[in-house]
Amino acid sequence: MRLADKVAIVTGGGSGFGEGIAKRYAEEGAHVLVADINPDGGDRVAGEIAAAGAGHRVAFVRTDVTQDASMAAMVQACLERFGRLDIMVNNADTSQPNGPMLNVSEEVFDHLFAINVKSIFLSARHVVPVMRAQESGGCLVNDTSVAAIRPRAGQTWHSGVKGAASTMSKAMAAELAPERIRVNAICPVAGETPLLLPKLMPERRAAFEASIPLGRLARPRDVANAALYLASDEAEFITGVALEVDGGRAI
Ligand SMILES: NC(=O)c1ccc[n+]([C@@H]2O[C@H](COP(=O)([O-])OP(=O)(O)OC[C@H]3O[C@@H](n4cnc5c(N)ncnc54)[C@H](O)[C@@H]3O)[C@@H](O)[C@H]2O)c1
Repeated sequence: MRLADKVAIVTGGGSGFGEGIAKRYAEEGAHVLVADINPDGGDRVAGEIAAAGAGHRVAFVRTDVTQDASMAAMVQACLERFGRLDIMVNNADTSQPNGPMLNVSEEVFDHLFAINVKSIFLSARHVVPVMRAQESGGCLVNDTSVAAIRPRAGQTWHSGVKGAASTMSKAMAAELAPERIRVNAICPVAGETPLLLPKLMPERRAAFEASIPLGRLARPRDVANAALYLASDEAEFITGVALEVDGGRAI
C-alpha cells in the first residue's frame, strides 16, 4: 500500500481525472475526502470507493473551490473526519468553450481564473497551516494541463490560467520546501473524461490522437498513476515539477 494511512482531499473528485485519482488513492490505502460541487458525482464516487471495501476511509463533501468559505469548510470536514491532511489535490475545472479568444466573455474568463488559479490560492490558505503543524509536512498536487507548456490557438485563456497554475506550483514548492511541504503539478493532454468527450467528434478525436506520439488520449488511470507517485513517499525528493502526462504531445 503506497499511501497507507495518508489522508487526501481530491477536488473535482466526482468525475474524470479526479475520480480516477480518488479511486487510485483509496486502492493504495489512503483515506479520501471527495470534494466536488456536484453532489451526484461526489456521492457516486464516494459510494463506489466504499463498495470496493474502503467504507470507513472515504467521505464526500460538497465544495465550491472558487469560494473561500467553502474551501475552509472542506478542510475542516477533512480534519473532523480523518484527523489530519497529507495530500491536497487541486483538480476541479469546468468545460471551457473552445474558440477565438475574443469570443470569450469577461464572465467566463473570471470563472476560468477563479476555478484554476484562485482555487490554488484558497487551498494554500487553508491547507498549508494544517501541513505546517504536522511533523511530516504534506504535499499538494495541482492538475494543470499540457496547454500550460504548449499552448494552442483556440485555448488562449485556458492555456494562460493553466500556465499560472503551473508557475504557482513551482513558486509554492520553493517557498514551502523548508517546511517539508512538496508541491507538484500534473500536465495532462486531452483526456477521456466528461470535460472533453462530449465536444470531441470522431474525426476530431482521430486528428487529436494522431498528434500524440503514443497515439491515444489520456485516461483517468494515467493521471491517477502520476498523482499517486507524486503523493507517495517514493517522490519524497521531488518538488516543483510540472509532469507531462501527455503521451509525448509536448515534445
Ligand atoms: N479532460 C481533459 O482533456 C483535460 C486535459 C488537460 C487538463 N485537464 C485538467 O484535468 C482536471 C480534471 O478534468 P476532467 O477532465 O477530469 O474534468 P471533469 O469535467 O470530468 O471533472 C471535473 C469535476 O470538477 C467539478 N467541479 C466543477 N466546478 C467545481 C467547483 N467550482 N468546485 C468544486 N468542483 C467543481 C465537476 O463537478 C466535476 O466533477 C482539470 O483541472 C482539467 O483542466 C483535463
